[in-house]
Amino acid sequence: MTTTPTLEVYLQPEQLRAALRKDATVGLTSNPKWLPPKYFYDARGSELFEQITALPEYFPTRTERELLRRYSGEIAEVAAPEILVELGSGSSEKTRLLLGAGTRHGSLHTYVPQDVSVSALEGAAEQIGVEFPNLTVRGVVSDFTESLHHLPRGGRRTIAFLGGTLGNMVPAERAEFLSGIADVLEPGEHLLLGVGLVIDPAVLVPAYDDAAGVTAQFNRNVLQVLNSQLDADFPVDEFRHVALWDAGNEWIEMRLEAERAMSIRIAELDLDVEFAAGEQLRTEISAKFTLDGVRRELAEAGFGVDRTWTDPDERFALVCAARR
Ligand code: AVJ
Repeated sequence: MTTTPTLEVYLQPEQLRAALRKDATVGLTSNPKWLPPKYFYDARGSELFEQITALPEYFPTRTERELLRRYSGEIAEVAAPEILVELGSGSSEKTRLLLGAGTRHGSLHTYVPQDVSVSALEGAAEQIGVEFPNLTVRGVVSDFTESLHHLPRGGRRTIAFLGGTLGNMVPAERAEFLSGIADVLEPGEHLLLGVGLVIDPAVLVPAYDDAAGVTAQFNRNVLQVLNSQLDADFPVDEFRHVALWDAGNEWIEMRLEAERAMSIRIAELDLDVEFAAGEQLRTEISAKFTLDGVRRELAEAGFGVDRTWTDPDERFALVCAARR
């Protein structure tokens, strides 16, 4: 049985632009200035991110892929998913391992990839439909939070949130996000998280400041997004990529530092933004976790951790938690 994947769209490009307008206004008029990381991922940014995942210094993607390769059978046994919902599925590249294990286990019948990018979803859903002809594939274009309101019914669900993306939220946002997931799950349904662990900054920082400068380009690309989406005039090449480990908060922070004093015109917002020479704009936090910390955050949101899996160097973890 092969059925064509369906695509449901709850997020129009115009809504994403409206959100960008609001976020850019708030972030660029704050002190210190900041931008949310979700705007990195236009076509160019998504391509640069794919390049990052192949860099020698960027270990998270290949470590998580290896964990999925080794343990997806055990994950399928613990969660026994009938429906797998993946938040921020992107290319769904690593998810194939979970889909393979779920179908071999015999329980899985539906895959629901969710992403903000229509183009990423179309390609991924199509390919997975071909590779797994017995799966129903239902792509959802939406924001994370919105997709939770459109969660499929009709079977035991597992929500996967991989790649360490939970770390791109500050603790208060994580608490709200995890509670929001708990609210829509029934007792016994599962959340599968992929999280980066707290490790030696000497290994971690280069993952966000690679020798080839790809992460620097990825970081600066967010200014290009503002230039094209909001008719801004950031001199993109005059911002320096900064990546640092904040030991107190246990997160990596990416910033862009203005190399000289400048005044930026953002025509779409009718806004002028002043940068002092050396002033930094925060573009991303990427928090790292301890297993105890993840357990605590999940417990506070209404989950109990069933199993965790880590690589031998303990750099990354998969965490499978059940709604209580
Ligand atoms: C995979 C989206 C979580 O924080 O590691 C990679 C994005 N930023 N290099 C991460 C990212 C800089 C990333 N996420």
